Amino acid sequence: TKDKNGIEQVVLRSPRGASARVSLHGGQVLSWKTDRGEELLFTSSKAIFKPPTAVRGGIPICFPQFGNRGALEQHGFARNKIWVIDSNPPPLHPNDSEGKNYVDLLLKPSPEDLKVWPHSFEFRLRVSLTADGYLTMISRIRDINCKPFRFSFAYHTYFSVSDISEVRVEGLETLDYLDNLYQKERFTEQGDALTFESEVDRVYLNATDTVAIFDHEIKRTVFVRKEGLPDVVVWNPWEKKSKSMVDFGDEEYKHMLCVDGAAIEKQITLKPGEEWTGRLELSFVPST
Ligand code: BG6
Repeated sequence: TKDKNGIEQVVLRSPRGASARVSLHGGQVLSWKTDRGEELLFTSSKAIFKPPTAVRGGIPICFPQFGNRGALEQHGFARNKIWVIDSNPPPLHPNDSEGKNYVDLLLKPSPEDLKVWPHSFEFRLRVSLTADGYLTMISRIRDINCKPFRFSFAYHTYFSVSDISEVRVEGLETLDYLDNLYQKERFTEQGDALTFESEVDRVYLNATDTVAIFDHEIKRTVFVRKEGLPDVVVWNPWEKKSKSMVDFGDEEYKHMLCVDGAAIEKQITLKPGEEWTGRLELSFVPST
């Protein structure tokens, strides 16, 4: 299928009717629905679907830079680009294909990208939907340069929540984090699970492999499992920042929460010919 700007989108469906929609713009997942049709991702009603603008919602991929931690544009260029379908990807482990519906995408740098970031790479992304309707993403980034390069990375996942004040995030207790609201200074998480009553913009360091998001109002739990991705970003813009974003509704912060599997504090280094793999698996216990 194509969106209204003629950009191709791929729809994956599980046998029981769960679905995921992936756009070639950014290699971005824009929708992930349970077999009951519940949407698990947030996309802003004000999102702009016109490349190179990044789409506000779903799962934008931040690469080769996270945020403004470097000389590139915010969150790097991968989310602004048109990716292609990779019809003949190098094999993955058989477990990564069995019983799943998937699509393979590919991004290579354009001559303009090489001017701002002079490193040749191949970025292969597999998005799959399991029989249970779980969403997995596997990113493989290869250095096809003659020199090493470094990058940071995030699956900037916008989860849909019923009411942010009823949400609890578990799995980040006692961790150190960098706080973007305080000059990226380092703090240690003290309390219990995270709850939300103001703007949050943090990078939790060396997090455990699973983080859980409980939505009390609808009694739904979403699990974020990550591999190769030490850090977890937690972001909610809250009231004031929401008003400053043109592609985000003033009240929409109440219905979203970003929790990203990421590699930010320590950049990934690849030598010529080397490949890095970063996985994300999103699963859920449906609302009752
Ligand atoms: C977060 C950053 O992950 O992404 C925030 O930590 C930023 O500082 C947010 O505001 C959204 O970024 P963007 O570029 O999509 O508006």
